Formats: sequence, structure tokens, C-alpha cells
Amino acid sequence: MGSQEVQLSSGIQPRERGTGSDLLNRIGWTPLLRLERLVPEAESAELWAKAEWHNPSGSVKDRAALAIVRAALQRGQLGPGRTLVDATSGNTGISYAILGTVLGFRVRLVLPADVNLERRRILTALGAELVWTDPMQGMDLAIDTARDIAAREPGAFYADQYSSDANWRAHYDGTGREIMSQTAGRVTHFVAGLGTTGTFVGTVRRLRTAGLRVHCAGVIPDSPYHGLEGLKHLPTAHVPAIWDARLADELLPVRTEDAYAMVREAARCEGLLVGPSAAAALVAARRLMERDGPGVYVTVLPDSGLKYLSDPLLGLDATEDRLSEARPPESHTAGDRTPKDRAPQGGGEP
Ligand SMILES: Cc1ncc(COP(=O)(O)O)c(C=O)c1O
Repeated sequence: MGSQEVQLSSGIQPRERGTGSDLLNRIGWTPLLRLERLVPEAESAELWAKAEWHNPSGSVKDRAALAIVRAALQRGQLGPGRTLVDATSGNTGISYAILGTVLGFRVRLVLPADVNLERRRILTALGAELVWTDPMQGMDLAIDTARDIAAREPGAFYADQYSSDANWRAHYDGTGREIMSQTAGRVTHFVAGLGTTGTFVGTVRRLRTAGLRVHCAGVIPDSPYHGLEGLKHLPTAHVPAIWDARLADELLPVRTEDAYAMVREAARCEGLLVGPSAAAALVAARRLMERDGPGVYVTVLPDSGLKYLSDPLLGLDATEDRLSEARPPESHTAGDRTPKDRAPQGGGEP
């Protein structure tokens, strides 16, 4: 096994998440896994990663979505007959859709039309109302459109994850606190991708408030046109209102190709199939370990790779073809692939 849960000398239980039958109580207190095989050979660095796919919707965004919704419920902005509106590249929308069902409000999401097949289908299955925007204009157009819709529609609540203090506070109260507890305060480096920036801002504020001396690096795509779902190219995109540049010791740009190569490497060497933004964080963490040497490096893996399997950049179809070519001819039976396997993908989606 390349991964294992942290053993704490302090006696604190590594898992403190709720144990009841309430789905929402299962958000947060994700496992901190040790990744031993991705550490550069010469280094005695430790690499640890928060496995955020353990949240109920399968991503880190349950944390921010729950905090945003709770604050709105308290202020009377949400409830039966009300509609939550927001722009989302998918993961936050999936969290909102689940919360809407459990807590009783409608959910309308604005997404760039190039959101991948898996996310479209998950959102459709969960019953969210979907509004599509021109993918060439990225999340920025989706954000403007969501704001317009919410302003026009009576009873709509614009969740605005890019500006909501509840977003970063979820990580201040959750992710940051968990990392301090799960590493018994030994963390020396923190690396996280920047999308709304909530994960980074909240976690780093918590680490700094606790007085820990931690080098904090934000991960961004290396160019405005990239395939790192969930991450923003901050130098050219609308900067989220919650972003606080003073918290980052540095920004580490990662190439899409390097992140996708890491998706495959982490799967093969750690047994962890992670999403591209998680892989980008691992690329950046490895670069830091090579540069800074020994230390306790902690990163956040926002979701698993299961929602990206149709992405051609992963090169999985090519692998499949190579495997079938390598099989002896007699093994090519009708039962090998069902017609469903061969059905064209992508048609008829909203
Ligand atoms: C897959 C993925 N990675 C990273 C992020 C970035 O997290 P944050 O918005 O907290 O900066 C998101 C946010 O939506 C995401 O969906």
C-alpha cells in the first residue's frame, strides 16, 4: 500500500466526522492519506493528501456549499419555494443539487457548455435545472449570467460562491482545523489549487491564525486555456472577491499535460485515481519537495478521477484499444463488449 492514514502521537482520533445517519453530517473530516511513492527518491519529505472524494457528493465542494446554504437558511434567503442560483463548473452544483433535495429548495445552475459528460449526467440525475453558456468565455460568462438570472427572478437566492465568506470559512472551520489535528501540527508546506480560492484562503487563514510556520503555495493552470477543471488562471480571469493574495507565499503554474500524466502516475503507483486538479496539486507538491527538501507536505485532492473518464486527454481509450489488440484473436467474443460500451457518447445532453 502506498497510502495509509496518519498515526497520531497525540492520541487524537484521525477521523472525527459525524457518525450518525444524517447525510449532511458526513461532510468534512476526510481521511488524510500518506503518499509514499510520489515523493522524489532523494528526499526524506512526507507527502499527505486530504481525500475529498469521501464527502457525500464526491468532492471538496460539499464543504463550501453546505456553509453557503446554512448561512442563507439562517438569513431566510432559502427555503421551500425558493431557488438557489449559482455559476459552477460542476462540483459545487452537484453539492447544491443534493442539498436542495435534502433541505427542500430548487437549484438552478449556470455552466459553460463544455462541462463533461459525467457531470452533465450526474446533475441531470439529481434534478438540477441547467443553464448553459458559451464555453469559449469560460466561467466568467457563467458567473455574469447567474448574477443576471438571480436579479431578474423573484425568490431567487444568488449563492455567489466566488464572493461568499461562508465558502472560505467552511475551510477555516473544517479543512484547516482537520489538517492541524491530523498532522498533530507538523505541517510545514501546504499546497492547494485555486478555483473560487475558498479551500486555500480558509485553510491558510486557519494555519496562520494558529501561529504555524507553513509555506503556502497556490496552484494555478499555466495558461488561460487549460483542461484543469475547477482551477482558475488568476492572472487573466475575474479574481474572486474572497481571494487574498497576501496569504500565498507563491503561485505554482502547472501545465494541463503534466497534470494528466500525474492522473495516470498516481493511479498506477499510489492506487489513487484522482481528478486533474488533484493531479495538478500533486505535480506542484512534488516540485516543492524537490526544491525545499525534508518537511511535512500537505495537499488537498478535490475529487476522484471517476467524473473524468470520458476525457480524451486521459488517453484511456487508446489504452483500451492497445489492450484489445494485444489479446489473442479467439478471445474477441461478442461478450467482450456490449453494444452499450460502443454507444456514441455526448448526444442528447442538455
Ligand atoms: C475539481 C475541483 N478542483 C479544485 C477546485 C477549487 O477549489 P476552490 O473553489 O475551493 O478554490 C474546485 C472548485 O470548484 C473543483 O471543482
